[in-house]
Amino acid sequence: MRSLRRRSVLSAGLAAAGGGLLGACGPALGSGRNAPPPPGYVRPDGPQVLAAERERGGTGPVTKVELAALAALADLGGPTVPTWTYGGQVPGRCVRVKAGGTLELTLTNHLPQPTTMHWHGCVIRNDMDGVPGLTQDPITPGSEFMYRFKLERPGTYWFHPHTGVQLDRGLYAPLIVDDPREPLRYDHEWIVVLDDWVDGVAGSTPDIVLAQLAQDDEFGPRRGRRDGGRDGDRDDGMGDMGGMGAPTADPSVGPDRRFGRGGSDLLGGHPGDVAYPYYLINGRVASAPETFRARPGDRVRLRIINAGGDTAFRVALGGHRMTVTHTDGQPVVHRDTDALLLGMGERYDVLVTVGDGVFPLVALAEGKDATAMAVLRTSASGAVPAAGTRPSELDGMPLSAHRLTADESVALEPRPVDTTVPLRLTRNMPAYDWGFNRRDYSPSERMPVSRGQRVRLSFVNETRMWHPVHLHGHSFALPDGGPMKDTVIVLPRRSLDVEMDADNPGLWMLHCHNIYHAESGMMTVLGYRS
Ligand code: C2O
Ligand code: CU
Repeated sequence: MRSLRRRSVLSAGLAAAGGGLLGACGPALGSGRNAPPPPGYVRPDGPQVLAAERERGGTGPVTKVELAALAALADLGGPTVPTWTYGGQVPGRCVRVKAGGTLELTLTNHLPQPTTMHWHGCVIRNDMDGVPGLTQDPITPGSEFMYRFKLERPGTYWFHPHTGVQLDRGLYAPLIVDDPREPLRYDHEWIVVLDDWVDGVAGSTPDIVLAQLAQDDEFGPRRGRRDGGRDGDRDDGMGDMGGMGAPTADPSVGPDRRFGRGGSDLLGGHPGDVAYPYYLINGRVASAPETFRARPGDRVRLRIINAGGDTAFRVALGGHRMTVTHTDGQPVVHRDTDALLLGMGERYDVLVTVGDGVFPLVALAEGKDATAMAVLRTSASGAVPAAGTRPSELDGMPLSAHRLTADESVALEPRPVDTTVPLRLTRNMPAYDWGFNRRDYSPSERMPVSRGQRVRLSFVNETRMWHPVHLHGHSFALPDGGPMKDTVIVLPRRSLDVEMDADNPGLWMLHCHNIYHAESGMMTVLGYRS
């Protein structure tokens, strides 16, 4: 597959999803972006990758899971929508593995498009990382693929496809790696998955939303097109999509989902590109919330995951303060807060000692004026909080990763930086055309690093929007002893330097976790030299 051309991945998706579009799009996409990868880099199935996997601790048990990606009707607690799921439920069932064990998960693809599975935040062998056209062949409709890899580090992770905008359907689930020597003491665990939802509502799909965004000028409808204004020529939209060139859909189907007005001081202005009809916690709308039961005085560990496509969430538990213990699966010096801010892909673990009563756990779609809710109940009496409830804990300054400190067990040893990878976050105006260093995504691009190096990733956000940037296969340290993260918010017009040790050879995606930005080109590849 190393010779697999990205475009054929796309064409396969188009053929399945769009019927007659294949002929129109295939040739139009041919370009220099299909250049073969440069020589001198580790291959995802190369000997360095296999050696690294052998060195990884992991004599623990093998957890076997069979999972099907399939179309299903999902009941969101009122609205019932046709969507794509793992095993027919949203979110998919949590997968749990013991640290030091092996996960063997066979994914069967019953979707009408190719797919793959990515293990967000996990430090694993590169050929199991689930990036089509880079680390594996796409899993075609009707076929299956066995993912098998060791998981050394405990923590809160999740998995999702890495194909097109499939992530913004119902295809996501938690992955928890349990610590056999868990240092925290708690009575219950509550996994809280946040999501913004559009799929199947009034005919919308994420592909249609992407096609609508492709018609944009910055933050507004496009007036006339670069090719002379052939408005309505849908195939033309493909030419603008730099990155993975998702299957084109008809932007006129369903309501216009582009986000218009709104702002967020926390996010430096424009909060997102998509106005979602629903916001969910654990697959439920706020009017039909999931209820989590405990007894007054219990200690509860919350594992909060933002699985959204285009929404940051501000999260608070009414009547409680939370003690943050981890972000992105990695321990931090414990810190109390009323509220948290999570960009897409980020996770926070918190401990709470629960009071007596009925309490709303609210996720405010930051800057979008809408909420998702779940309920914590420790007493039999007491009414369910109304949908739309906003506990006062949401009002203060929510904690974000920049104010945390890495736990010493995971902190990077100080050491001189060997190489700096420049990563300007850019947008080619006026199109909806995001990128790194003004370039579109190409699976043959390599930002070079070498094994053993201390690497600085130097993000400079030249755009007017925030981006949650994510690196596969590694954790990086935020400045000044900050936490170890795999996903971090970079605010508009700001810079951020993070550091990591290049200790996991392979070809690793680095991208914005706004799925619409990623699909429009804001992705690149960190490549280990061989
Ligand atoms: Cu959750 Cu490539 O990402
Ligand atoms: Cu982005």
